[in-house]
Amino acid sequence: MSEHSENGKKGNPIRRAWTWFWTPTAVLSAGFVLIAGFLGGILFWGGFHWTLELTNTEEFCVSCHTMETNLAEYRTTIHYSNHSGVRAICSDCHVPHEWQHKLKAKIIAVKDVYHEIVGTISTPQKYEEHRSEMAAVVWRKMKLSDSRECRNCHNFKYMDFTIQETRAASEHQRAIDGNMTCIDCHQGIAHDLAPGYQERYREVVEELQANNALPVEPPNDVAAIRSYVTELSGN
Ligand code: HEC
Ligand code: HEC
Ligand code: HEC
Ligand code: HEC
Repeated sequence: MSEHSENGKKGNPIRRAWTWFWTPTAVLSAGFVLIAGFLGGILFWGGFHWTLELTNTEEFCVSCHTMETNLAEYRTTIHYSNHSGVRAICSDCHVPHEWQHKLKAKIIAVKDVYHEIVGTISTPQKYEEHRSEMAAVVWRKMKLSDSRECRNCHNFKYMDFTIQETRAASEHQRAIDGNMTCIDCHQGIAHDLAPGYQERYREVVEELQANNALPVEPPNDVAAIRSYVTELSGN
């Protein structure tokens, strides 16, 4: 008789698996390893989220970016202080909300640590020299994402064009019709702009167009917005 049938295991695969699961291996049972892994996973995941949240605070961002430049500029803008008391902090505009985009952004941001160590923007002067290039990186991202981070708070659909000043209302309707995105018209809403920024912005857009990188159909629901606009203007 074989060992298997002697132990009565042959006909009962579930029991066999159960026994195997709890039988101590050379070091630990598979069950123990799985449970320990599960608990460890919870601890790791919690710590992971905590790290993600901590690295989203303004204190964290300006612990590296020279306070005198970015922070001072931003503090004079409407996103820092306004009549509604809603504030957009660094990460609101620069770090995606959706976890898969967020994780990607955090991984790419590791390169900032390298640049911090080598001192790429360590003095205000170096910062100014580098500003145009850094701004271009941000514009590129926003153009590709259809200004996704702005749209976490703003939405053409919720804008009341009747109470916006005439220029804003007409430009926004032009934006909807022309498939334009927020950053196409609102560069420099939170920081100073480098000289020649319009030229640099145009280059970013041209480069993306040349690579067919821009979304053909913008993610926003143009038809729905148009009908809303028509409704508002009472036609
Ligand atoms: C470890 C220091 C450090 C921290 C912390 C840090 N940065 Fe940076 N960041 C840098 C350096 C250095 C650069 C210049 C990198 C380069 O030239 O590529 C940079 C570049 C940038 C740029 C320019 C575009 C780009 O991606 O290169 C943006 C936007 C930015 N950081 C936003 C943030 C935000 C928002 C936070 C907080 C969530 C943050 N940074 C935290 C050091 C840091
Ligand atoms: C966290 C939410 C939030 C995010 C993200 C955000 N904004 Fe705002 N934005 C606001 C608030 C709040 C105001 C001020 C509204 C008021 O007048 O009280 C504002 C005001 C503005 C104004 C009016 C400026 C003025 O001088 O009157 C513009 C333009 C604007 N935002 C564009 C943008 C763009 C472009 C982005 C993306 C790069 C963006 N916002 C991201 C919340 C946000
Ligand atoms: C075609 C150019 C254009 C595009 C694209 C555009 N805007 Fe504007 N926007 C303007 C102009 C011009 C004004 C009025 C002057 C100003 O505040 O800069 C304005 C004003 C605003 C204001 C202030 C409105 C008020 O009544 O105080 C907000 C908020 C705003 N834009 C947000 C956005 C957001 C968010 C997007 C993307 C979803 C966007 N804009 C896309 C041109 C544009
Ligand atoms: C309302 C949205 C918004 C907020 C809030 C914001 N930024 Fe920006 N940031 C931008 C945009 C848009 C650009 C692209 C350049 C431009 O148009 O000014 C940019 C560019 C940058 C750059 C590239 C260099 C430059 O000056 O253009 C850095 C670095 C940066 N931001 C860091 C920060 C930090 C740090 C904070 C918080 C203290 C912050 N940002 C808050 C929207 C924002």
